[in-house]
Amino acid sequence: MGGRAVRLTTMTHIKARIEVYPRTDDVKRFKVPDEKVPWNVKYQEYEPPDYTAPSVLSKPPWADPDVRTTNDTSIKWNDYDKAANVNRRSHIGEYKIVDKTPRNPIGRTGLRGRGLLGRWGPNHAADPIVTRWKRQNKTNEVVKDKDGQPVLQFIAVQRRDNKEWALPGGMVDPGESVTVTIRREFSEEALNKLEASSTEKKKIETAVNALFSKGDEIYRGYVDDPRNTDNSWMETIAMNFHDDHGKSVANFKLHAGDDAVGVQWMDISKTLKLYASHESFIKETAQKHAASW
Ligand code: BGC
Repeated sequence: MGGRAVRLTTMTHIKARIEVYPRTDDVKRFKVPDEKVPWNVKYQEYEPPDYTAPSVLSKPPWADPDVRTTNDTSIKWNDYDKAANVNRRSHIGEYKIVDKTPRNPIGRTGLRGRGLLGRWGPNHAADPIVTRWKRQNKTNEVVKDKDGQPVLQFIAVQRRDNKEWALPGGMVDPGESVTVTIRREFSEEALNKLEASSTEKKKIETAVNALFSKGDEIYRGYVDDPRNTDNSWMETIAMNFHDDHGKSVANFKLHAGDDAVGVQWMDISKTLKLYASHESFIKETAQKHAASW
């Protein structure tokens, strides 16, 4: 297993500072230059706008109350919150509470509030990285790049919100274990997008369940996600499930349905452009298998 711990001292965020906040036209972040990201660097003019999306303010079950205006002290920061069944611990250690709200452990993002995220503090996700070797159709031989390195492929899905390609991951539901999230999201995000008969899908699911019984942790920590704010941020656990001999999941042809939102086996290389921090998880996976990058 042995996941890689994040070195906070060297980590920064870039996507979490993009000017226009996702799914808005005019919510603009306060500009944060690279060197002003860390909270311990003075930034006197820093006056970030406050934004929480209407979908979050309408109090769906996945969102917290506004902890700044209620006197509700039941929320357990930095702990497993039994009342809400929510893990409020961060993978990267203890976060600070400033003015009643958690403070982004990586630094300034140019925006206060929760944006599109339901939880104050960490919002936990989980990501499956399902891989196989790329093989020649006829001979079944593993395809090599020009340096002779074998080419790895992973299952990628296209996100509905911004059409970017991503891992088929998702949010950990209250009380859910990460392994359950990973399987659930994989079938919701990847399998349901397939044009396959229900018997085909059943076969795939059986293969997936067998493959998912042993995974390798690739990453556990903060995600540089465009939805992050000064008070709410994404964290994930990414696990690799590799079909080395091409005997199970690797055999399934993936074709997306008609609508633009797709799923496919994607070649791994350094030219990939993926959602949030997913490129770095893929790079780590390629290195682990001594594959082409
Ligand atoms: C996605 C995950 C991603 C996480 C952090 C979630 O919404 O489903 O794939 O790792 O956000 O960006």
